[in-house]
Amino acid sequence: MVSRVIPVDSFDLVIFGGTGDLARRKILPALFRRFVAGQMPEDARIVGAARSDLDDEGYRAFVREALAEFVPKAEAPDVDAFVGALGYVPVDARGTNGWEELAKRMRDGVIRAFYLSVGPGLFGDLAERLHQYGMADADSRIVVEKPFGRDLESAKALNEVLVGAFDESQIYRIDHYLGKETVQNLMAVRFGNVLFEPLWNSQYVDHIQITVAETVGVGGRGGYYDKSGAMRDMVQNHLMQLLCLIAMEPPSKFDPDAVRDEKLKVIRALDPVAHHHIVRGQYSETKDTASYREDAENPRSFTESFIAMKLGISNWRWAGTPFYLRTGKRLRARSSEIVVVFKDAPHSIFGADQGTHRNVLTIQLQPNEGMTLDVTIKEPGPGGMRLLDVPLDMTFAEALGPEAEEVPDAYERLIMDVIRGNQTLFMRGDEVEAAWAWTDPLIAAWQARNDVPQPYDTGSSGPEDALMLMHRDGRRWRDIRE
Ligand code: BG6
Repeated sequence: MVSRVIPVDSFDLVIFGGTGDLARRKILPALFRRFVAGQMPEDARIVGAARSDLDDEGYRAFVREALAEFVPKAEAPDVDAFVGALGYVPVDARGTNGWEELAKRMRDGVIRAFYLSVGPGLFGDLAERLHQYGMADADSRIVVEKPFGRDLESAKALNEVLVGAFDESQIYRIDHYLGKETVQNLMAVRFGNVLFEPLWNSQYVDHIQITVAETVGVGGRGGYYDKSGAMRDMVQNHLMQLLCLIAMEPPSKFDPDAVRDEKLKVIRALDPVAHHHIVRGQYSETKDTASYREDAENPRSFTESFIAMKLGISNWRWAGTPFYLRTGKRLRARSSEIVVVFKDAPHSIFGADQGTHRNVLTIQLQPNEGMTLDVTIKEPGPGGMRLLDVPLDMTFAEALGPEAEEVPDAYERLIMDVIRGNQTLFMRGDEVEAAWAWTDPLIAAWQARNDVPQPYDTGSSGPEDALMLMHRDGRRWRDIRE
C-alpha cells in the first residue's frame, strides 16, 4: 500500500496552554508525526503560549522531553529538525503581557490557527485579545476541546462567546473520537459499499450495541471526573458521535454541513430514556487498585464511572430497533466496538433443530482495528446439513499490510484538517447543544431521585443490572475482550 501524504499549506499555529498535559501528550506528538511524514511544510511555525516563563530554547527542551516520553521511537535528526519550527511566548490570557510579542511572531500570507488548549473559562479572554492585537482575521481558525460545557446552558454560553468573536466556519470543536481511523471507516463502510445500506434499518437490524470499555480508573483526574461522570465525560460526546455515524441517513456528499446536518437529525430524533433503561455503576477496590470513591477522593460520591442505556430513535429508519450503549472505567479489557446484530432469516428451510443463526457485523474501533461479519455456513464434512456461524475476518492490520499497523493518532488527522480548513470531523455548535439538550433531563432525573450507582467489580463487565438490561429483552452483550 502506498501512503499518499499531501502536504498542507504553510501555517502559524499558536497553542495556548502549550505547556499543558494535552499539548505534551497529544498535540505536539501529533504535529511531530505529521512533520516526519512530510505533511507539515518545512516553514510552518508552532508557537507555544502559556503562563510559564520560558523562552524559545526552554520550550524546545520541554518538547524534546515530551517527544522522548510519548514518541519513544522518534529519531534524533527528526526531533532536531522539528524543534527548529517551535517558538514560545509567555502570555497572560487575562492581561496584556506577551500579546504584542505574540502578534509580532505572526506572519502574513500563511494560515493562522489558534488552539485553545485551556479551560473554557479563558475562551472569552483569548478571543477578545486575538482580535484586539490584530492576530485573528477572517481566515483564522480556532480550535477548542471538550468539555464543551457541562450542560445546555453552559454550552450555549461558550458558543455565544466563540460565535461572538468568530464565524462558525472558523470554529473547530474537537471530539477526538471523530479523528480515529476506524470511526471514519464507519462512514466508508456504510456509504462506500452497496452491501450494507439496504439492510441498515429496523426491518433487518434487530439491535445495535455500542461499547467503549476502558481498563483505566480515574485516579489522577478524579477532581474533574467526579463532577462529570461517564454521562458527561463519554456519552454526551464520544458515544453520541458514534451513534450518529451509525444511525444517520446518507448525506448527499462528504461535506462538513451535509454530514453534520444528518448527525444533528439523529440527536434530535432520540427518544427520552426511561430511568429503568439506564444503569449507572461505580467500580470497587481490589487488592491492588483503589475504588472509584478513593480515586475520586470523595467517600460519598454518587458519580457514575459506568453507564449502560437502551435508546430508541424515532424516525422511519430506526423505529423499533433498540440501541444499547455502555461505557465504563476499570472494566475487563480496553475495547471499543459497535455490533450490528441482524434479524433471523424469516424462515429456516433447515429445520428448527438447527437453531437460530444470525449475521452480526462487528466493527472493532480499538484496539485491533477491524471488522468481522458472522455468516452462516454448512459445517464441513458428512453427517447431514449442520449449520455453523463463522466470522469473515477483516482485521485491518492483516488485510492492509504493515502500513496499517501504524494507525495514526486521531489528533494527527484532526490538526491537519484544521489547517486544510475541513470541518467535517468537528462538531458544529448546534450539534453540541442538541446533545446536551438530550443529556440534561436524564442527569436531572437521577439527581432528583438521589440515584446511587451500583458497585461493580474492577475487571468485570460492569454491574449485573447492565447485563439484565439486555437479558430482559432476550438479548445479550457481546463479551468485552481485546
Ligand atoms: C476522554 C475522556 O475524552 O476520552 C477520558 O475524558 C477517556 O475519560 C478518553 O479515558 C478515552 O479516549 P481513548 O482515545 O483512549 O478511547
